[in-house]
This record gives sequence, structure tokens and C-alpha cells, in this order.
Amino acid sequence: MITLGIETSCDETALAIVEIKSSTEVRVLGEVLSSQIELHQMYGGVVPELASREHLKALPLLFDGVLKASKLSPLDIHAISVTKGPGLKGCLLTGLDFAKGLSQGLSVPFIGVNHIEAHMLSPLLEDEKPSFPYLSLVVSGGHTELSIVRSIGDYRLLSRTGDDAAGEAFDKSANLLGLPYPGGPNLSKLAAPYSGKKFNLPKVMREAKGFSFSGLKTAISLLVKEHSEALAGDIELRGELAAAIETSIVDAITYKVKEAISEAGIKNLGVSGGVAANTRLRKELNINGVRTYFARPSYCTDNGVMIAYAGGLRLLKGESSPLTVTVNPSWRVEDL
Ligand code: KG4
Ligand code: ZN
Repeated sequence: MITLGIETSCDETALAIVEIKSSTEVRVLGEVLSSQIELHQMYGGVVPELASREHLKALPLLFDGVLKASKLSPLDIHAISVTKGPGLKGCLLTGLDFAKGLSQGLSVPFIGVNHIEAHMLSPLLEDEKPSFPYLSLVVSGGHTELSIVRSIGDYRLLSRTGDDAAGEAFDKSANLLGLPYPGGPNLSKLAAPYSGKKFNLPKVMREAKGFSFSGLKTAISLLVKEHSEALAGDIELRGELAAAIETSIVDAITYKVKEAISEAGIKNLGVSGGVAANTRLRKELNINGVRTYFARPSYCTDNGVMIAYAGGLRLLKGESSPLTVTVNPSWRVEDL
């Protein structure tokens, strides 16, 4: 089944055409992505209204682009999969309405899919994939969740963040250091050559149930205030602080993953979401006695392939959405 995937939940418009025969027989025919980084950079974060307008502009252009990339005509598409939630309401609506229009025009079914489920399943897109059950870690800009994937469609949430998501912790820390949006990759670049040993940040959320990054944010803002003059003129000191922050976030995630592994007794780990592109995290999650499977970096961040895959698997089982379906900006994995 040739499935068009459409992702517009935040600041990336991403489309892909994927041929899906089963959960393990998947061929990506074409994929395109338009990032809004430059647009939002001057505001220091995503402006929802601007993001929706950009999606509206980008969608028809990217639809042409993905057809060209895959050398297909619209009539070759058998079904459409689109992000229904969670995400920014206006952004989700642009993608869902576009999918509904195409579905009507081409007389093909469409399905609204859960963005987090798509992240959870994305390690299965790799040749080296986890077998079931696996522990799924999704670390993104809006979500930090640990779940057990018993099989496709059968999930048990173990924990999620009580406050900021891991990506938000990166983005807000980067902001305190005066780095441009998106903070995660920029902070990571600044931190790369340094150990972070010059700064002593607290070991976050070890005792707390689930993830929590707000204590770290407070500690960082105090440190930045205390050293503001020195940090302004000293790139090495800024690098050291960036490395300390990165290590602290990575350490907190790794600690919780190890805890969940020993509690659940599951030895397969699947990692995805934007923060899973982080080199330090990828290194630390190679845990002794655990088989870790990462989505490739371009499928860690938001993309159309994971949406086509998650929806394609449901469409293959005969599921689809009615035309009356609407977006669900706070759709939780446990409500699937
Ligand atoms: O999954 P994603 O593309 O979008 C959401 O669904 O949220 O994740 C975006 C998040 C942002 O917070 C970004 O700063 C973070 O992932 N991120 C990174 C890296 N690349 C992206 N954080 C740390 N290191 C990276 N290399
Ligand atoms: Zn995402």
C-alpha cells in the first residue's frame, strides 16, 4: 500500500510517500521537509500562528515536491496518514484539512495518527530493529515518555515528564546561555569539545517519580546569573557550562531508563524523538546488557516517514478516519 504521510504538528512541514506491505516490509519512495527554524529564530521559540500560516503555504508545494521525489502521480497514492495530535492546534488543523481534501479528491481513505506513537514506532524503520516487547524512550521538544511497546498498537505508559520535556530543558537552557533557537542542537555543538567538569549541577530527579527538569532549570539560571560577566567574555567557560548542562540532562534521562529497565525486566530499548539525535545521549544509552536501537537522526526529529508508517500499519488493518474527525492537541498515548 502506497501511503502519503503528512506531519504538521509543530514547526516542520514534512511529507513522505512510503510503500508499506507489513510492519517489516517498508520502502521509502520519497520524503521532503520544510523547516521553519529561520522564521521562529527571531522570537526565540515557535510562534503558533506564524507556524500555521507557514504550513498552509508549504503543504501544496511539498506535495508537488514529494511526488517528484518519488516519481509518482497523485493517482498512485492508495491512502493518507496525517498527524492528528498531540501538537499545536492550528498547525494540526492545516495538515488534517489538507489530508481530508486530498482524500476526497483522490477517493482514498485517510487516517489521523498519534505523533508520539509514530515516534515510538520509528526505531522499527531501521534494518536493525528491536523485537517485542521493547522499552520505548521518546525524548522530544514536547514529550519525554517511557512506555512498553508490547506489539504495534499495544502500549503501556510507564512514566512521562511532570514538567518540562527533555527538549524543552535543552531549549530553555540554551536560551539562558543566549544561544539561538532551536537550543538543543546549538547547545550540543557548543558543548562538544568540553567535559563540563568546571560546573557542579545537581543530579536531577533521581528520587522523583517520572521525569522532572524544572529543578535543573532553576540551578542553571542561578549559575548563569552568578557567572554572567565571566560567561560573556569567555567562550571556553560557556562551552564548559553547556557541557555541564548537557551531561546533567543526559545523566537524568539515562538514570530513569536504567531504573525502568530493571523494574520492567525488558532488555530491548528503542529510542526516538528530537533529543535522541544528541550524540552524548546516544553514547550513554548503550547500556551494558541492553540492546539499544535508535531511530536514525533524521527520523528522530519530526518527519513524514514515521507518520506514513504509523498510519499505514493501521490502514493495512482496515482502520481509517471519518471526514468528521478533528484534531486532538493533547492526545495521550494511553488513550489510543
Ligand atoms: O521530535 P522533535 O523534532 O519535535 C517534537 O515533537 O517536539 O524534537 C525537537 C526537540 C527540540 O527541543 C530540539 O532542541 C531537540 O529536539 N533536539 C536536540 C538535538 N536535536 C534536536 N536536543 C539535543 N541535542 C540535539 N542534537
Ligand atoms: Zn516530534
